[in-house]
Amino acid sequence: MPRVEDVVFPRRERTEDRRKERWHRDVLDEVFDRPTLLAVSRMVSSGHFSEVDFSVSTGKEANVFRVSGPKGFRALKVYRISNSIFRNLPPWALAEIRREVGGGSFPRMVAAWAHREFTSLGRCHDAGVPVPEPMAQFRNLLLMEFVGVEGLPSPPLVKAVIEEPETLRREIAQASRTMVEKAKLVHGDLSPFNVLYHRDHAVLIDVGQVLRADHPQAKEMLRRDAATFARYFSRQGVECAPETLYAEMGGDLLP
Ligand SMILES: Nc1ncnc2c1ncn2[C@@H]1O[C@H](COP(=O)(O)OP(=O)(O)OP(=O)(O)O)[C@@H](O)[C@H]1O
Ligand SMILES: [Mg+2]
Repeated sequence: MPRVEDVVFPRRERTEDRRKERWHRDVLDEVFDRPTLLAVSRMVSSGHFSEVDFSVSTGKEANVFRVSGPKGFRALKVYRISNSIFRNLPPWALAEIRREVGGGSFPRMVAAWAHREFTSLGRCHDAGVPVPEPMAQFRNLLLMEFVGVEGLPSPPLVKAVIEEPETLRREIAQASRTMVEKAKLVHGDLSPFNVLYHRDHAVLIDVGQVLRADHPQAKEMLRRDAATFARYFSRQGVECAPETLYAEMGGDLLP
């Protein structure tokens, strides 16, 4: 059994250039506090992965790492155990978490949040929505399929150069529609930040704040996201009216 510090900070990384090493170590120190390290070691001993390779994204609420194990690369999303994660939560999600843990401690609420994203990913994946396949969840950790090419993460749309925007527009509309029709869910935060551009196709991520399709605010959220994408695609040279996109995204199916 390797030392957990060696898993998150492999020896070979230590010989890399000093500044990079320092930054890497700072991120790891900040993200992998004691409880998180213990959760990681539990996933490691369950055989899910054996090494944390590098940080893919450092955010306010979560950090995403590429990890590797016997079956290849995976993405590990580590939620911060702090109150900041709940500052930006939509009220429906917060209400659900509160119900679930009965106003418990932050670590328990964060675990419930990670669990919520895990089960939502599963529901979308089973319904045929292009999302990373969820693989495991424990405490504040979520392990899922790594969306990348030759070990490098595929970028979010905001950082990508789109080859065929019209095709992509149809794909995103269809993905959202399948989510409404088959998974009975509305994403709730669909934007060019939360769609990855993977081998010229769209992969939806960040599904923690999904709403049930029959939720009173589902229409409002889908309208907002349709408007965001209408603007995005107009910039890409594809004219599309927000209302038309809203309907295509599944708005016409909402009760
Ligand atoms: N399965 C994955 N494969 C590859 N990269 C991923 C995967 N999941 C997330 N990422 C990368 O990590 C970034 C952050 O992920 P995500 O959107 O799920 O977190 P977040 O909740 O928005 O975190 P924060 O709001 O703190 O930035 C994404 O923009 C993407 O670049
Ligand atoms: Mg995001």
